[in-house]
Amino acid sequence: MKKAVVVYYSWSNGNTKRITELLAEGIGADIVRIDTAEPYKGSYNEVVSQGQREVNKGYKPPIKSIDADLSKYGVIAIGTPTWWYTMAPRRPSPVPKSRPGSET
Ligand SMILES: Cc1cc2nc3c(=O)[nH]c(=O)nc-3n(C[C@H](O)[C@H](O)[C@H](O)COP(=O)(O)O)c2cc1C
Repeated sequence: MKKAVVVYYSWSNGNTKRITELLAEGIGADIVRIDTAEPYKGSYNEVVSQGQREVNKGYKPPIKSIDADLSKYGVIAIGTPTWWYTMAPRRPSPVPKSRPGSET
């Protein structure tokens, strides 16, 4: 059976990072972190407001390239904080279309 990977985004307190690490340890998965190409700047409240604008517009900030081949995994779990009642705009993208039948 192919291995699992948890791909996550975490911005403010590392909460999603901690959950990801617990999950990955529990199921023996690898971890891939994604980050925005441009870090969010300003105070917490400023980023909360920016996040609201991005969620409302459906804007997804570009991310840094990741050094991982996700096609080798059988399961890809996604980790994201809640931003404005939904997943953060810069959540990891779902499984590529080239991987039909994959589980998330
Ligand atoms: C832009 C922004 C929007 C947020 N919106 C919500 C929300 O709608 N509901 C909620 O319960 N928490 C919200 N939060 C709080 C985060 O979801 C929470 O602190 C989370 O644990 C942060 O994860 P992280 O430390 O991995 O970034 C928001 C935080 C930010 C920065």
